[in-house]
Amino acid sequence: MRGISSSSSLPACLHGHGSSRVTSCATACLVLVALTILVISIDPRSSTTQPSWFLLSSSSSSSSTSVSVRHAAATSASSLRQTSSWINGGGGGGEHLLVRSSSFGGGARSRGRNSTGKEVLVEGGGGDGTAAAAAAVIGSSSGDGGLLPSVALSPAGELTAAAPAPAPALEWGVDDAASRDDIIQVMPQVQRRRDVKLERLEFGLAKARAAIREAIQNKDNRPPLTDKDYVPVGPVYRNAYAFHRSYLEMEKLFKVYVYEEGEPPVFHDGPCRSIYSTEGRFIYAMEMENRMRTRDPDQAHVFFLPFSVVKMVKMIYEPNSHDMNPLRRTISDYINVVSTKYPHWNRSFGADHFMLSCHDWGPYVTSADANLMSNSIRVLCNANTSEGFEPSRDVSLPEINLRSDAVDRQVGGPSASRRPILAFFAGGDHGPVRPLLLKHWKGKDADLQVSEYLPRGVSYTDMMRRSRFCLCPSGYEVASPRVVEAIYLECVPVVIGDDYALPFADVLNWAAFSVRVPVADIPRLKTILAAVSTPQYIRMQRRVRAVRRHFMVNGPPRRFDVFHMILHSIWLRRLNVRVVAPEEY
Ligand SMILES: *[C@@H]1O[C@H](CO)[C@@H](O)[C@H](O)[C@H]1NC(C)=O
Ligand SMILES: *[C@@H]1O[C@H](CO)[C@@H](O)[C@H](O)[C@H]1NC(C)=O
Repeated sequence: MRGISSSSSLPACLHGHGSSRVTSCATACLVLVALTILVISIDPRSSTTQPSWFLLSSSSSSSSTSVSVRHAAATSASSLRQTSSWINGGGGGGEHLLVRSSSFGGGARSRGRNSTGKEVLVEGGGGDGTAAAAAAVIGSSSGDGGLLPSVALSPAGELTAAAPAPAPALEWGVDDAASRDDIIQVMPQVQRRRDVKLERLEFGLAKARAAIREAIQNKDNRPPLTDKDYVPVGPVYRNAYAFHRSYLEMEKLFKVYVYEEGEPPVFHDGPCRSIYSTEGRFIYAMEMENRMRTRDPDQAHVFFLPFSVVKMVKMIYEPNSHDMNPLRRTISDYINVVSTKYPHWNRSFGADHFMLSCHDWGPYVTSADANLMSNSIRVLCNANTSEGFEPSRDVSLPEINLRSDAVDRQVGGPSASRRPILAFFAGGDHGPVRPLLLKHWKGKDADLQVSEYLPRGVSYTDMMRRSRFCLCPSGYEVASPRVVEAIYLECVPVVIGDDYALPFADVLNWAAFSVRVPVADIPRLKTILAAVSTPQYIRMQRRVRAVRRHFMVNGPPRRFDVFHMILHSIWLRRLNVRVVAPEEY
């Protein structure tokens, strides 16, 4: 059986996995116990309850909670998703940060509990004062306001620092919603089953939202937060102060439940090397996580579906068959199992659940389940905004090509003056973007070293280290491992491609440390890059170095590294959803 394959067939991640599952479990448990003791003894937060001032101030306003019951009969998931692809379509580099608005009724329609089809109890932020319109847009003050389409019930734009006051946000687009045929606003006359645990969780999230909103609004007149490890500052962040606040709130509160069903290698396992490594690394790290993981589903803010699409392709897919149905069946069976065994999936129609995949097919296989596709948080390398990736709900997962466990050897590079080449690319002529790049620049200009294959004896890494800019055109799909490779080697990445939602763009200001070139501007590539002055370049390169910690893969994970940034992205999106107990019926 596959489950007891020899240890050598399991690539070892850095976290003590890779030997037999029994040993790794024993290790996990030991570590868990040790750390629990540690945490209990040194972290006062773990034992305290919520400060009462907050309870007072917000419980008064929460009595006004309006519950939206949405009737989404007419909306197909795909139409919802198309409306939502505005975010990058609008240009401006696509880095508008926002976190999910409540535009998810799409999948809910298929799972309505009562005969009228009215359902859905998940709101973007809800109506209580603290939670209003939810969420955590860790933005700069560049008014992202007008960019939200009417389908977004929660005007996330109002949450940017440009927002004048929180009050208008309370309206959270009711008018917009009312004008849409498929959404009906109903006042909360329905009897709801009280779910005290859920209410407590949501209350905690509402507090965190309020703290983050406060940070967004007061970023300029606050001393930096203290932190023993790292204090985010500077232009690489959209709003460093608010990010830090949000990060600390996450550490204090956030709990992830990992479903235990399923056998490795398709579940609880994944690739630890290769271009898909972030998939396996995250799954491993999540399995080993103790601080932000809970074993009690009733304590969880989000639920992780720990399947690996890469492993599924390896184990289940018939090569060259072009038939993804076996993969989709595996996923829908899995969701059937967890939604039957636990109440949580049905409760939110999957909106507080997430899946993660770095495989190109990640997005397609999620279509196995309507709720998974249209409600859940999908953490994907293949973050193509023209194919339904919705930055306000989904998470862009960085693609990192790990060749060995010693990540450190892939890191570091010389200063600008020791980089004689303006820009460099070497890679296969595939996908929609690269043929254009190669056609225009291959062998055309000594400053732009663009080719398919490097001559024998020329090191790819050395070329990146000798270049000021590293070109990162999309390949078969939007994501390119070159982006993080460039960041590791202190080469300023040039992202070429129109549909790619960049990782952590809700927090990071990509324009400060990278260049984005639309496909249509490929002929002007040299002009664009040559226009960056040396002082400007030196600044950008310094910021590349500064932002690197957020892309580092550590075993075990460290604060602010790639694992925690992925979790933070999920945390932000969860903040924009409010789960309400189901109706009595
Ligand atoms: C969730 O809904 C499905 C389909 O409607 C149902 O089969 C399942 O039993 C429900 N799960 C629970 C825990 O009630
Ligand atoms: C993104 O999706 C669109 C629509 O399917 C497609 O035309 C485009 O080629 C994709 N982009 C990349 C880089 O694969």
